[in-house]
Amino acid sequence: MKKLDVVALCGSLRRASLNRHAIRLAQEVAPAHLAIEELDWRAVPILDADELAHGFPAPVAALRTRVRAADAVLIATPEYNFSIPGGLKNVIDWISRGEDQPLDGKPVAIVSASPGPLGGARVQYDLRKVLLFVNAMPLVKPEVFIGGAAAKFDAQTGACTDATTRDFVTRQMAAFADWIAGVQRMRGSAAAQS
Ligand SMILES: Cc1cc2nc3c(=O)[nH]c(=O)nc-3n(C[C@H](O)[C@H](O)[C@H](O)COP(=O)(O)O)c2cc1C
Repeated sequence: MKKLDVVALCGSLRRASLNRHAIRLAQEVAPAHLAIEELDWRAVPILDADELAHGFPAPVAALRTRVRAADAVLIATPEYNFSIPGGLKNVIDWISRGEDQPLDGKPVAIVSASPGPLGGARVQYDLRKVLLFVNAMPLVKPEVFIGGAAAKFDAQTGACTDATTRDFVTRQMAAFADWIAGVQRMRGSAAAQS
């Protein structure tokens, strides 16, 4: 089966981020042909459109290049104040600029984790709205909201200790692999017809 290259963005910079644990779980349970690499966006500055007018700063240019080369993007994010963490939104805003913006037509899967009971339900729909504008192709189902997440990952190792969470993420990653292949087929045949 064709190897699929997926890059992951974690919406949290926290060292012991539950959402980074979720990325690690996705890496563990994804089908063998789907390889997931987390990207480090810590060096991305706050978007200043004056600066943008002079081109992309080096950390942004590197992110754009890597996202463009990837087959798909996995976003694992907390919910901040019922919405998208500012840092993650800033990264999406940067990479969404330019005519060759790399999220155009890109398959995306979303997972959110929170110590709260809803697992970040609200952030996912705000994120979907943003992804719609940048013409990305978000996987619809299965949705994965990891509520009560502090009790579902080992505090020392970050390993997932909850069978139900593991099962949900396993099913989501299998569906994501199918979705990526489907989007690529669709885009391939659309390109052939144009
Ligand atoms: C600024 C801020 C706002 C937050 N707002 C929410 C929220 O709206 N909903 C929620 O479930 N948790 C909220 N939380 C709690 C986060 O879900 C929790 O800190 C979580 O562990 C962050 O994700 P991480 O573990 O990946 O860093 C908020 C945390 C911060 C720092």
